[in-house]
Amino acid sequence: MSHRSNLILHVLLFCSVLSAAQSSSRQKWLMDFDWKFSFGHPYDHTKDFNTTTSYFSYLAKAGYGDGAAKANFDDRAWRRINLPHDWAVEQDFDANASFSHGFKAIGRNFPGQTIGWYRKSFFIPHADTAKRIKLVFDGVFRHSKVWVNGHYLGTAESGYTGFSYDISEVLNYGDSNIVAVRTDAGIEEGWYYEGAGIYRHVWLTKTSPIHAADQGTFVRTKISDKQAQVFTESSLINESLTTQPVEAFQFIRHKKNGDTVAVSTLQQVLIRPFQEKKIYYQFTVKQPRFWSVDSPHLYQLVTIVTQNGKRLDEHETNFGIREIRFDAKQGFFLNGKPLKLKGTNNHQDHAGVGTAIPDELQYWRIRQLKEMGSNAYRCSHHPPTPELLNACDELGMLVIDENRLMQTTTQGQEEIRKMILRDRNHPSVISWSIGNEEWAIENNKTGERIALNLQAFVKSLDSTRPVTAGISGGFRSGISSVLEVMGYNYMGNGDIDAHAKAFPEQPGMGTEEGSTFATRGVYLEDKINHHQPAYDRKPRPGFYSIEEGWNFYADRPNLAGMFIWTGFDYRGEPTPYGFPSVTSYFGMMDLCGFPKDNVYYLRSWWAKQPVLHILPHWNWQGREGEEIEVVVYSNADEVELTLNKKSLGRKKMPLNGHLSWMVRYIPGTLEAISYVNGKKILTAKTATTGKPHQIQLSSHKNTVTANGEDLLIITASAVDEKGRAVPIADNELSFELTGPAKIIGVGNGNPTSLEKEQFIDKIETAAIDLVFERSLIDTNAVASLLSSSTAEGWVPAFKQRDYNNLAPLYIHRGSFTISSEKEKIQRSLYYKCIGKNQSIYVNGKLIARDLPHTSNGYIFNLDSTMIHTGNNRIDIVATPIPKKNPWDEVNTEAGLIRSLTPASAWKRKLFNGLSQVIIRTDRSAGQIQLRAVAEGLQPGTLTVFSAEDQVKRYLQ
Ligand code: GAL
Repeated sequence: MSHRSNLILHVLLFCSVLSAAQSSSRQKWLMDFDWKFSFGHPYDHTKDFNTTTSYFSYLAKAGYGDGAAKANFDDRAWRRINLPHDWAVEQDFDANASFSHGFKAIGRNFPGQTIGWYRKSFFIPHADTAKRIKLVFDGVFRHSKVWVNGHYLGTAESGYTGFSYDISEVLNYGDSNIVAVRTDAGIEEGWYYEGAGIYRHVWLTKTSPIHAADQGTFVRTKISDKQAQVFTESSLINESLTTQPVEAFQFIRHKKNGDTVAVSTLQQVLIRPFQEKKIYYQFTVKQPRFWSVDSPHLYQLVTIVTQNGKRLDEHETNFGIREIRFDAKQGFFLNGKPLKLKGTNNHQDHAGVGTAIPDELQYWRIRQLKEMGSNAYRCSHHPPTPELLNACDELGMLVIDENRLMQTTTQGQEEIRKMILRDRNHPSVISWSIGNEEWAIENNKTGERIALNLQAFVKSLDSTRPVTAGISGGFRSGISSVLEVMGYNYMGNGDIDAHAKAFPEQPGMGTEEGSTFATRGVYLEDKINHHQPAYDRKPRPGFYSIEEGWNFYADRPNLAGMFIWTGFDYRGEPTPYGFPSVTSYFGMMDLCGFPKDNVYYLRSWWAKQPVLHILPHWNWQGREGEEIEVVVYSNADEVELTLNKKSLGRKKMPLNGHLSWMVRYIPGTLEAISYVNGKKILTAKTATTGKPHQIQLSSHKNTVTANGEDLLIITASAVDEKGRAVPIADNELSFELTGPAKIIGVGNGNPTSLEKEQFIDKIETAAIDLVFERSLIDTNAVASLLSSSTAEGWVPAFKQRDYNNLAPLYIHRGSFTISSEKEKIQRSLYYKCIGKNQSIYVNGKLIARDLPHTSNGYIFNLDSTMIHTGNNRIDIVATPIPKKNPWDEVNTEAGLIRSLTPASAWKRKLFNGLSQVIIRTDRSAGQIQLRAVAEGLQPGTLTVFSAEDQVKRYLQ
């Protein structure tokens, strides 16, 4: 094709693509809704649904998933849930559970809560027969095995790396399909709370057989004053059965408004089946908008694949135009300008929901950090969920993306490869961390060899970002001597200046600093109640206060910055205490994201806006006349403090410091006034309040989308009669929610609270054990058999049946056990048909007569007139199901008894004045109202409208 006709074709194609942007041949459906969940068991196979007990199981024959992996397994009685889901957070706390994982009752000592099974049915239309269909899991904790329609797809060990399975061949087209997932949270990967189950999204993608490969695109940018060069490489893959010629081109647009800024030429590509071919382009973007932490502008690279003018694929890759550089003398540079990294370390964990953090909460958490003035986030100590990086891209937060286990084996490298291929286009990511505090190897030759190997491996995948690791075992040899960017974990662990001097070419940053202890709203140490005062104190020998840490890094232009341990509290590591402390004390914010006072210190010196904050609160009944340290955080030049309008002095604020006054306590009002250049800037007050009088509820936003994912993050507090928030209120609140939404978690940031975080129905099941049978000519003998309990004439059920010579009728006898007969437990029989026609008797009483066979079975409520505690008898009179072939399988299981204890009302105590309620919308629009009540307080209500979802992206 001539250059001219190529160009015309390409312009035509481009126009048709733009005009038909909605009808993309690529589809990505969210699979988060309507899953079934049940616990299995690590070693008792009867409690693991007899999975893997068949003569031929899933490893023996294709499609032979048995037990709960089987397509037609009866999961009707399982709990219905939506993803993301963390079953660990649903459990109670237990002193015998893991310290590092926040004492939630899962793991080795709790085998009944350690294996989780998930099943979901989904429909695939006939029209999809020619497509490639994949199931994509963003992360499952952990050791998951997945089956679709009984076909085993694979095992994924890590709880932090995403994985996907192509299921095109094993699907039922024009019919329903079943995915089954078994997850095993029995082994811990980290030394912090890790949750359990499918705690990240699951997606179903549909593409044409020839398409841009998943994670096969890499965009690099180079900037100059007026323009940017964008270098792209993309793999195209042919998953059809024949060699195919296709055409491809790419263009760049602004992500937000879709305006195109550059278009490539068209190229012809011939691809053999199962082959990947790369296309490369270089674009010039004039007047580019750079991505930065203050203006996080995003572009989108669109890859178009066509065949004879027909569009096969349209693939989008978000990226930012930006340049990063670490310098050994001058620290970190973004787009050519120095930028101090003001970072925090964080685990993925939040009050109420654990690791199952909905997207909206990811964004909210990043916003809280940004409001503190933070511009950097270290994903300690594993790759994050993709939405966290999206939030960082969109909100302007730099990221250190960290690998979990530091290994050079194929598997170890594969984990790093997956992290880099998935995350390398995020402009927020500035460094790959290959490990953290690997004590066994940090200072030796093994560590050095492993670090060098992984560093080179990382470079082979992405040469634009330097490699780092968190080092704590002295900064001298081994890993520290070879890292591209040295990561210092704590000033107390070695001489940072000496190391920087010894390695003058090696840039460095404080990958961990702080590890200070504070309980939000507490200002007196109390060892018995596990309270750590929220003054910024040196926590223990070898560690420093936040202020000391920041001063150290602020003073050293050669160091790129520091990452505080941690931004938010997390479950586990309740140092310096143990049970009943269940969360850490390290956070600048508590587990709910409520700020501790350190947030205001950091905001003073990290953020730009004027800050003035006084601590502690001024409710110290009983301490009249005692001296109390009053601290003021501010970035003003001077601050004056008054108590009941009497000046306690005006003081000059030291750079990166704070001010303090010793004040004799009398009730009243502390007031601080800040001055810049002698001019009054802000006033802040803290007053002695009255008793809690009324509950107040406030939400982080006023409108939500009815998409089953959006959230209301609600703060509950109590105010006194004058409307002032009571900082020591600890009332227990009960919550009632009406409208199309659900409460999904509650918390209050109290590290020692053992209150429930979720109030959910409890479901227990007991299988019906059919033991005996007798053949019958007709129903005449049934009545006398029902009343007799002799074993004479009965034979083992189903065992000796001659299928060539079946009796007209059989009576089957079995039993089930009811453990206790509490009033509120609702019991039901989930019956599965064992005959063509059947009548069911429980304890001799007729439950149902002459039921015709159905593959869906029947459900009956059993009330206390029908069943009793202990052993109950069930008799089923049925006409048998014949076998056409000797190898046919007929159902011999009569189902199970489900006992459901309905959830009690949601409640939570205020802790130092605050608690949090997280509400998730349903997929229907309407008014949502939360009402909170407490004894002796006026109730609080909050009403928000959930609006129709305009962009439905879930599989219906
Ligand atoms: C560090 C470690 C973190 C956390 C912290 C607590 O040594 O890297 O994961 O355990 O200590 O102080």
